[in-house]
Order: sequence, then C-alpha cells, then structure tokens
Amino acid sequence: MSTNETSQPELFTREFTQNPYPVYEKLRQTDPIYRVLFPHGDFGWIISRYEDAVEVLKDNRFSKDVVKRYGPDQQNIFVHNMLFSDPPDHRRLRGLVQKAFTPRLIEGMRSHIQDIADDLLDNLNSQDKMNLIDEFAFPLPIIVISEILGVPLEDQDKFRLWSNSIIDATSSEHAEVFEKHAKEFIDYLNNWFAKVREQPGDDLISQLVVAEDSGEQLTEKELLGVVALLIIAGHETTVNLIGNGVLALLEHPEQRDLLIKKPELIHNAVEEMLRYNGPVEFSTSRWASEDIEFHGHHIAEGEIVIVALDSANRDEEKFKDADVFDITREKSAHLAFGKGIHLCLGAPLARLEGEIAINTLLRRFPDMQLQTDVNELEWRPGMIVRGVKEIPVQLK
Ligand code: HEM
Repeated sequence: MSTNETSQPELFTREFTQNPYPVYEKLRQTDPIYRVLFPHGDFGWIISRYEDAVEVLKDNRFSKDVVKRYGPDQQNIFVHNMLFSDPPDHRRLRGLVQKAFTPRLIEGMRSHIQDIADDLLDNLNSQDKMNLIDEFAFPLPIIVISEILGVPLEDQDKFRLWSNSIIDATSSEHAEVFEKHAKEFIDYLNNWFAKVREQPGDDLISQLVVAEDSGEQLTEKELLGVVALLIIAGHETTVNLIGNGVLALLEHPEQRDLLIKKPELIHNAVEEMLRYNGPVEFSTSRWASEDIEFHGHHIAEGEIVIVALDSANRDEEKFKDADVFDITREKSAHLAFGKGIHLCLGAPLARLEGEIAINTLLRRFPDMQLQTDVNELEWRPGMIVRGVKEIPVQLK
C-alpha cells in the first residue's frame, strides 16, 4: 500500500480544482498508483502516469460494467450504455450509433458547423464583450448534437441543467438535486420517444427507437441510457475544449499570434489544447473484476480504478517539456479521448467543432482579451469535467 489512507493529499479541494497540476506532478513522482478515499465514500485507486494509464485503459480486467459491480437494482438509470458496459454489450451498443459519427460523415458537416459558429458570433448580445462559455462555447456543440439527435433546440437550457447535475453528482450534497433532475430528464426523454414513435424522422433517436422496437438490439433502459449519454457528452465536453483552449491561447499570446498568422496549424493546436488542459480530467470509473497485481500494488476485486487523464497528458516521461503549451508540438498521442475500446466515439465531431470554433473566433476577434485576472476564474467542481464556469472576454 502506498499512502496513509486517512491523510488525503490535496485532492478534491478547491485549490486542486483551480489548478490540479502541481498535485498531479507530486503523485506521478511519489504515488503514481495512489490509493484514495473518493468523496462519495469508496476506496479506490488513481493512476497518474502515462504508461500506467494506457495499460489500465487497455486492460479489460478493469471492467466498466456498472450493473455487474453494483447489481441490477443499482439506482443510476443513465449507465445503461456503451460507456458503462463490457463486451459483448459494449460492441452492440457502440455499433448502433457509431455510423452517425464516422470521420467522413462528420467532415460532411463542416460548412454547416461553420455557419453555426458565424451565426453565433453575428448575434452576440454585444460586439464588444461576451461570456465566451454561455454565448459561444456552450451553444455551438449543443446545436450540433441536438440536430444529430433530433431533439428540440429550445429545450437546451433544461438539458444543460440536467447534464450538469448528473456530471456534478459526485458528492452526497448533490444527491437530492440529482434525483429531482434525473426524474425530470427521464420523463422528458420517455415523452420524447413516444412522440418519435408516432412520427419518426431521419435523426439518430428515430433510428434508435426503431432498433428498440425491433426487440433484439436495444432494451428500453438502453435506449434511455444511450440517448442520455450522447446529450450529456454533447453538453459537458466540447464546451470545455473551446473554453480551455481559448484560455490557453489568451495566456500564451505568442501562441495565439502564431495561430492567427498560420491558421493551418489549427489541427495541431487543438491536439495541444486537448493535451495541455483536457476537458475530461478523470476517466469514468473502472473496477477490478478480479484481484490484480499492478506494478507492486494489490488491487482487490471490486475496487475502483480511475485514470487521471489530465495528469497522464503532463507526464514528462512521455511529453518533453510537458508543462509548456506549444501548438507546434508534433504528434502528441495524448489521452484526452481515452484509449482502448471506450475511446471517445465523438472525437471526430469534437475535433471538428473545436477547430472551427477557435479559428473563427481568432479570425473575427484577433485582439480578444480576458476581462478578468486568470486566477479569478472559477473552475467547475466535480471529478470528471475540467472547465471554467464563465470566461468574460473583451472582443475588441
Ligand atoms: C467516451 C472524452 C466529446 C461521446 C469518452 C471517453 C473520453 C471522452 C475520455 C472515455 C472515457 C473512459 O474510458 O472512461 C471526450 C472529450 C470530448 C468528447 C475530451 C470533447 C473534446 C464527445 C462528444 C460525444 C462523445 C461530442 C458525442 C457525440 C462519447 C461516447 C463515449 C465517449 C458515446 C463512450 C464510448 C465507449 O464507451 O465506447 N469521451 N469526449 N464525446 N464519448 Fe467523448
């Protein structure tokens, strides 16, 4: 065992949320496979080095099947999807939606996403300043995922509230709010599925409803779990790729100037943004499906294992000058989208949205500045998502 279980390091404090990287560096050096008491009360392990992270993400003995771990009565209805399943269910569930997210299909959305980005910037509340998160980084991916799924755009505020609540439901204080919002979300989706059944369209939910009706491919719980996952992923991730990415540029003006001069660097730049301050800080939980000896540590059957993706992406053993933000860095092989069978299904879409959003912002507002001190920004609490609540910027 590595560390005294009762003396937690500075994990999960407000200071950690504001800037986790010094803690991660310490963990990588002294306790790279760290036994920890999570805020929700379970003991488990945090993996912070790159090579170990890859090993865990690719080793299917670290199961993702939540129903197997907690039993069929487990309360969280949103886990009946590919992210919380092992093969063969994982393959079946992923296979049902994969076709909608292939790189070729997503590339075909380029000019439409460009129009959405331009429209949002044409219609800002003010042409002098904005809250980058609320007025741009948030609506852009939401409009896109809502269109793919076929859900009404006017309900986006509700989806945001429900998604936030589910993602932040890591501590017991949130339990009541979670329950209320979870119920509203479930009722909303079930009503929506009923409408779609009466009048299916050519959107992804219509295809999934047909798959559920045909009986064998998808259960009712899975229909709900898969659609909820896509809505949540669409709300909680790309917004922070855009937010964290723009923030990195504003904090490194020489990098911003380089990207303005050479917009063709955008692909590389987005990869570096994902590596430098990725939107998904921790992988979702895995658990040991058997006793596992892992680099000198005994991980007992049933124990939770979490990969600190943002820590692995700053590992000096893997990335030279890992703390330096360098948009010309070559082939970074970061873990921001995970690795192995659960590698992010939405990665091609997220990359395209990020590239268009950031280049469009820079083209239209090359002199954009942060309106507040960077240390005043409030980072979101919670263990999975890494992003800022608001980013006030001066546009001209
Ligand atoms: C899985 C990151 C955007 C849909 C994942 C995982 C990561 C991730 C790290 C794996 C988690 C684990 O193994 O525990 C990101 C990041 C995004 C992003 C950083 C934005 C920059 C999206 C979008 C969608 C999406 C836009 C929806 C269209 C999914 C799905 C899975 C997944 C369905 C589960 C895949 C599986 O289990 O096979 N994502 N994601 N993601 N993501 Fe994303």
